[in-house]
Amino acid sequence: MASFPTVAGKVAIVTGSARGIGEEIAYELAKRGAKVMITFTSETSQSRADALVARIAALQNGATSASVRADLALPESPDIIVKATLAAFSTSTIDILVNNAGINLNCPLAALTSAAFDSVFDINVRGAFLMTRAVLPHLPATPGARIVNISSQGARRGFPDYTVYCASKAALEGFTRALAVELGGAGHTVNCVAPGPVRSEMMDMLPEGVVEFQKKRTPMQNRVGTTEDVAPIVAWLVEESSRWVTGQTIAAGGGIEVL
Ligand SMILES: NC(=O)c1ccc[n+]([C@@H]2O[C@H](COP(=O)([O-])OP(=O)(O)OC[C@H]3O[C@@H](n4cnc5c(N)ncnc54)[C@H](OP(=O)(O)O)[C@@H]3O)[C@@H](O)[C@H]2O)c1
Repeated sequence: MASFPTVAGKVAIVTGSARGIGEEIAYELAKRGAKVMITFTSETSQSRADALVARIAALQNGATSASVRADLALPESPDIIVKATLAAFSTSTIDILVNNAGINLNCPLAALTSAAFDSVFDINVRGAFLMTRAVLPHLPATPGARIVNISSQGARRGFPDYTVYCASKAALEGFTRALAVELGGAGHTVNCVAPGPVRSEMMDMLPEGVVEFQKKRTPMQNRVGTTEDVAPIVAWLVEESSRWVTGQTIAAGGGIEVL
């Protein structure tokens, strides 16, 4: 278990962190000493957020956490999350933001409605933009802040019936590169982590044939990833030691992108 306090005392927001990849990222940052705000939107995730707060408290390593319920499809939610974070940790600074919350959509283009398009872009793209804008006034002067956006292999590959999802993740990668330039002068880094298939509730909604195909195409042990495979990569990107990496997309897919 990584227990070295590489981000001790740092204030972090991880969106969509009561379950799935976000939950593991939040726990990994806590293992490294951070104060973590856990965000969620589904009523069913309240108990999972509570359980994660308890797990983090049990680490007894100085890490703390709190949770806030806010729907990132709503433009007002990022300010609610930021206010809750500043209050929970009695701070005026937010050091780390991980834009992880996201949804998928399986829909051939011919059947796509404008509302369905918006439902994906409102969360996967606008949610990350507005969340990031909301933390800007609170970023530390020095050392720099860390922003990590969770993309997907779908940003750079073609998956039929997933045009909107793939396009939303490509937008997130474009946002990452431009913002890295915009914030570089202040010493803040902005990067993406692009997982390949990872066992989670989102993956449970994929057709089994798609998952099997992706396993075959994954050089590393022909398996899907786990949340534990991905979280330490995000954790490194929020540590001081990653300060010379910015504007990048780090593939976290067992090599799926090289085939
Ligand atoms: N699993 C994969 O194979 C895979 C691969 C590549 C990239 N990714 C990306 O990794 C990220 C996490 O995916 P996952 O597999 O962990 O998915 P997941 O298990 O379905 O979790 C999705 C997370 O996003 C949150 N979320 C969804 N809609 C939201 C909204 N309107 N407002 C606020 N939060 C919202 C959910 O919150 P609630 O708990 O409140 O519902 C949940 O925490 C996503 O960005 C996804 O695109 C996943």
